[in-house]
Parts: sequence; C-alpha cells; structure tokens
Amino acid sequence: MKTLLFIACITFLSPSVNGAAEGNWKYGEEENWPGKCTNGTRQSPIDIITAKAEKSPEWKNFTLTNFDKDLKSREFKHTGKTILLDLEGSGLSIENGGLNGTYQALQLHFHWANDSKSGAEHTIDGKEFPLELHIVTKNGDQEYGQQHAVLGFVFKVVDKNNTKFDSIAAEVPKIKAEDAKINIDVNIKSFLPSNMKVFYRYYGSLTTPNCDEDVIWSVFETPIEISQYQLSIFQDIHFSHGYANYRSIQKLNNRKVLKFEAKPGETSSASCLLYSSFSLIILLFATYML
Ligand SMILES: *[C@@H]1O[C@H](CO)[C@@H](O)[C@H](O)[C@H]1NC(C)=O
Ligand SMILES: *[C@@H]1O[C@H](CO)[C@@H](O)[C@H](O)[C@H]1NC(C)=O
Ligand SMILES: *[C@@H]1O[C@H](CO)[C@@H](O)[C@H](O)[C@H]1NC(C)=O
Ligand SMILES: *[C@@H]1O[C@H](CO)[C@@H](O)[C@H](O)[C@H]1NC(C)=O
Ligand SMILES: *[C@@H]1O[C@H](CO)[C@@H](O)[C@H](O)[C@H]1NC(C)=O
Ligand SMILES: [Zn+2]
Repeated sequence: MKTLLFIACITFLSPSVNGAAEGNWKYGEEENWPGKCTNGTRQSPIDIITAKAEKSPEWKNFTLTNFDKDLKSREFKHTGKTILLDLEGSGLSIENGGLNGTYQALQLHFHWANDSKSGAEHTIDGKEFPLELHIVTKNGDQEYGQQHAVLGFVFKVVDKNNTKFDSIAAEVPKIKAEDAKINIDVNIKSFLPSNMKVFYRYYGSLTTPNCDEDVIWSVFETPIEISQYQLSIFQDIHFSHGYANYRSIQKLNNRKVLKFEAKPGETSSASCLLYSSFSLIILLFATYML
C-alpha cells in the first residue's frame, strides 16, 4: 500500500513521501540512487535501436482526449530536479495505442543539459538530443507494472522559433529559482509534433528514484522542433546538484522494443482526438516480468 501511494505521487510531484528515496539523490551520483535504480531489470531510459524494433501487424488508433483544450492557470514549477507542469484534474487523457483502458494525465516535465548535444534521456540509434518532454499519465486500474504510461518526445534545434511552444518556453525564466512556481495558460497539442504516426514502445521505469518499474513508454520518432534560443532558456535553469537532469542509458536486458506506425493513408495531424492508428502487440510483457 505504501508503494502504491508512493508511485501515485510520481517522484517529481512529491517532495518528501519518503525522505531517503526522494530528497537525497543527485544527478551525477546514479550509483547511489535508491530503490530499483541500481538493481532493476526494466529500467529507463534506453537507447532505442530502430533496426531491432519489432513491427506489429495489428493496428489501433492512439486517442488523445482534450489535448487540444486551452488549459488555464496550470501550476508550473521548479521542483529542484526539473520544471514541471501540473495536469492533474485537467481532463487530459490517453487511450488505445496499445494501452488498456484510459490513462489520465498527471503532469509533464523536461530533461536537459547545459551543452547542445546531450540532455534528452532516450537516445535513438545512439543519437543524443538536447531536450526531452515527458507527459506522465496514470491508470490505477491496471496491475503494477503498467499503471503509468509516459509519452516521450525528443527535441531538435532548427532555425526558427516554435512559437507554439512559447506558451511554455517564454514562461520558464520566471521559475529559474528552485521552488519557484507560477500559473500559466497552455495548449499541449499545439506544440506536439504534427506527425505522431510512429512511436517506440517498451516496458520500463521512472527515470528518477525510486525508479519504479511501472511505466509503459511511448517514445515518438518525430522530434519537437525548437530554436537554439528556446533551448537556451532551458539550459539557463540550473540546479543545486548541477547543470543537467538526465539519467544515463540503462541496459535493455531481455526486453523488446516495438515500433508502432499509423496505417498508410491515415493522417495523424488532422484530428484533435485521434492522432493516428497504431498497431498493438502485448505479448512481450510476460517474458520479463517474472
Ligand atoms: C536493490 O537495491 C536496493 C537499494 O540499494 C536495496 O534496498 C534492495 O535490497 C536491492 N534488492 C536486491 C534484490 O538486491
Ligand atoms: C492489457 O491487458 C491484458 C489482459 O489483462 C494484459 O495481458 C496485457 O499485458 C495488458 N497490456 C497492457 C499494455 O497493459
Ligand atoms: C556546464 O556544466 C558543467 C558541469 O556539468 C560546468 O562545468 C560548466 O561550467 C557548465 N557551463 C555553463 C556554460 O553553464
Ligand atoms: C526567436 O525569438 C527571440 C525572442 O523573441 C528572438 O530574439 C530571436 O531572434 C528569434 N529567433 C529566430 C531564429 O527567429
Ligand atoms: C482511426 O483513425 C482514422 C483516421 O484518423 C479514423 O478514420 C477512424 O475512424 C479511427 N478509428 C476508430 C476506431 O476510432
Ligand atoms: Zn522524466
């Protein structure tokens, strides 16, 4: 029960559910992280090797409900380990895309570093990205191991500002200090990639202590494009532990990565609710959960 309560809060949201687990860990000292972090078998992030990702023959639409809603006055906060937008009770949820039931959005947050090369947590074919967005969702009706679904988006620097992303980026300087918080208006769908047809699916963990092995990951292939100027806004946010807040790549062990791809001909950009259709295989879970 304690474990359930703990994971329900998600590491970043809860400052001190468990002092040992929550307060005292640092980036740069991963060998000392508590919980499953050093001895788990389905840890995150991973390097996604696209050539080894298995394609699924079955297809099912990923449904993002209310992501096109104009959210008002949501709390945006420097937690000391990331900057985090609270989405609890916002009505945003996800379904399908290989998930059972409905997962409600809890929060989104970012990972970055102070150099232009690294910062994202996942790598794709060994390639690093400078920033990564995690949209954390939860379905408490599922069994432990699949109660959280996180949508991961890497970022790529291009020549122009992504003005849609300014609803977040332009507000970041206001929460430069640890524990600073403001309320912002934001429309999540507006800055997600217009092409969400392809994503990589694997079973993993939270990337912060206690690294609970309770996350179904979907890492999208198409990056969110931002300018160097917008990236530098994130890189200006520092922590008492240093300049970066991404975890190193973890062993895949005997896990499989699946590639989901929308059916040819179906567009994923047109609809606010139904981005695209995806195939679905759920067989692999049992192979390593034992
Ligand atoms: C895994 O590591 C944690 C934290 O270091 C420790 O409490 C736990 O006993 C370890 N579990 C196993 C099976 O070694
Ligand atoms: C969906 O539910 C089935 C039946 O309970 C289970 O075997 C499978 O692992 C679940 N898949 C996911 C992605 O949660
Ligand atoms: C970037 O971070 C490193 C430590 O990770 C630090 O030594 C360096 O001064 C930082 N550079 C800038 C420009 O903040
Ligand atoms: C991006 O926006 C900033 C702030 O408004 C501006 O200074 C900069 O010139 C813009 N960059 C590009 C590439 O448009
Ligand atoms: C899946 O998506 C396509 C294209 O967006 C749409 O036409 C179709 O109705 C969707 N199917 C379901 C079951 O929602
Ligand atoms: Zn994260």
